[in-house]
Amino acid sequence: MTVKLTVNGEERQVEVKDGTRRLLDVIREDLGLTGAKEGCGEGECGACSVLLNGQLVNSCLVPIAQADGSRVLTPEGLAQTPEGQVLAEAFTECHGAQCGFCTPGMMMASAALLYRNSQPNEQEIREGLSGNICRCTGYDMIIDAVLMAAQKGRGLWG
Ligand code: FES
Ligand code: FES
Repeated sequence: MTVKLTVNGEERQVEVKDGTRRLLDVIREDLGLTGAKEGCGEGECGACSVLLNGQLVNSCLVPIAQADGSRVLTPEGLAQTPEGQVLAEAFTECHGAQCGFCTPGMMMASAALLYRNSQPNEQEIREGLSGNICRCTGYDMIIDAVLMAAQKGRGLWG
């Protein structure tokens, strides 16, 4: 089947034999966008997070047929936006990325949160990132980074 997607603002078409193939694999293997990572492969870690029609999803759980006709924002696309740049700077300044494996997914989850709540408190950030696992930072530095991105990005998040 032919699957049509708008990926990071660009129209893309992908031929797939099997509509149950995972969105994560199509993004990484067919489209060469390797920002979204595979951690658990079971919807538990958030490393594979992308926005699908503006909603945060674990792309390891989305069959490609279900994404047909959708808008997908990957970590690469987020990085090109002013919001993504504010987030990246905040993660760097607050040491919110250590090994970096969880970071693209953390940034996608942070962006999803900030787009719906541009000035979240600490508890709301913890809830917004509750689907994303980090083995390195103990989370506090990530929380600080999101608070900083909210502050520095005032007016950007809508
Ligand atoms: S790889 Fe998708 S949630 Fe862990
Ligand atoms: S920075 Fe290593 S898993 Fe989060």
